[in-house]
Amino acid sequence: MSTQQDPGSAGNGWFRTKNVEQSIRDTEEPEFQLRKTLSALDLTVFGVGVIIGTGIFVLTGVVARDNAGPATAIAFVVSGIVCGLAALCYAEFASTVPVAGSAYTFSYASLGELPAWIIGWDLVLELALGCAVVAVGWSGYVRSLLETAGAGLPDFLSGTHDGKFGFDLLAFLLVLVLTCVLIVGVKLSSRVTTVIVAVKVTVVLLVIIVGAFLINGANYTPFIPPSKPSPGGNGLTAPLIQLIFGFTPANFGVMGIFTAAAVVFFAFIGFDIVATAAEETRDPQRDVPRGILGSLFICTVLYVAVSIVVTGMQHYSELSVDAPLADAFKAAGHPFWAGLISFGAAVGLTSVSMILLLGQTRVFFAMSRDGLLPRTFSHVHPRFGTPYRSTILLGLIVAVVAGFTSISELAELVNIGTLFAFVVVALGVILLRRQRPDLPRAFRTPLVPYLPVVSVLASLWLMLNLPSETWLRFGIWMVVGIVVYFAYGRGHSRLSGYGDSA
Ligand code: ALA
Repeated sequence: MSTQQDPGSAGNGWFRTKNVEQSIRDTEEPEFQLRKTLSALDLTVFGVGVIIGTGIFVLTGVVARDNAGPATAIAFVVSGIVCGLAALCYAEFASTVPVAGSAYTFSYASLGELPAWIIGWDLVLELALGCAVVAVGWSGYVRSLLETAGAGLPDFLSGTHDGKFGFDLLAFLLVLVLTCVLIVGVKLSSRVTTVIVAVKVTVVLLVIIVGAFLINGANYTPFIPPSKPSPGGNGLTAPLIQLIFGFTPANFGVMGIFTAAAVVFFAFIGFDIVATAAEETRDPQRDVPRGILGSLFICTVLYVAVSIVVTGMQHYSELSVDAPLADAFKAAGHPFWAGLISFGAAVGLTSVSMILLLGQTRVFFAMSRDGLLPRTFSHVHPRFGTPYRSTILLGLIVAVVAGFTSISELAELVNIGTLFAFVVVALGVILLRRQRPDLPRAFRTPLVPYLPVVSVLASLWLMLNLPSETWLRFGIWMVVGIVVYFAYGRGHSRLSGYGDSA
């Protein structure tokens, strides 16, 4: 044994990897085992449940008004293609390494411990802030419904707006309630999710079908508004790509479509989270790829249709920023449909927020099980079979973040984090094919290595279209992560133990 590598790991430096068999064995230790209850249909519902949310209900309006006009539909196609490429890589990884943790687990098996830590830390940012963003969006819709009913909340409990500070009571409470639901168990959550997803998809179809009759063709001219300098654009708020090439910061035009694509990318976040539920899936080899690709396809078609209808109903320069779908119906003289859409949006955003929180706790769980974070967080509840300690800790943190922050900048930070994860996963597919060609793969990414390389380039391109200040914030978060890794994770990793015995 002394001359052999321990079967649990390979290498002993920052790039030591946890091998795939060890990842699967860890999930079989009873104390740390999650229940396997989900099917392909559950996963698709799960995916659609998280994918359709603030992106289509809120960001469509902002982006059409400020960046792309009617060409927002093209931005959705661009973003959808970037996600489709990444999804094909995710699907191979998820079907090869069916354990909790998503890109974190996949990169641990292929790229090594330090890259895995980086990606896990990055996913914590994506999912926690994503959940907070959606909770704040939900709160806005609910407040608007309450106001209609004559029961509006005072300003200081309505969150931060236009630089005026306030506590978002509803967003805070939503996250606390969802935390309790998740502690009780995934099966209950997924049943609740099924009902909510049905409401949400119905509302989106209503927007498309009813709205189609209210389109004014003149609103589509020009379909791609000509480029114009962005008001007050300084170096930090301009997309990094414009800064690098020394352009004057501008909106609209062809570049505006890419800026829009980098923002509406938020609308697609979630298909990757289906992969985090692999360990709780009855037949992950078959069902996870189906769940990921199926939910992504359904959402892309719906988004393109919604953005075409909404920019046809109202001139893009007049779309509202808070509730563009509902307000387009109000502007067209249909308050009943507007109310129904607001209600559906509020219901739909509940499920998005919940699933982001779920994905977040599962990544934390996996990192803790590996010893990179304190092990106490990976014990599952004796009765509910859920990682209740990490759920409680993260639920509280996300509730506070949701209560005290505003939406827009956080959404861009979430996007950059997610795109970064896509880059790592695509590279991981190539590496794992080389290192472990023997592993059974229920789903194989086509055209390796070309497709993953194109996926990396496409994700990087969208990242470059995000503001420079977003890059700066992301950089700071990642530096903090590296410090935590060297101060705690590296010494406490289970692979340190394995390494000693080798
Ligand atoms: N895709 C999700 C949304 O748009 C995160 O809210």
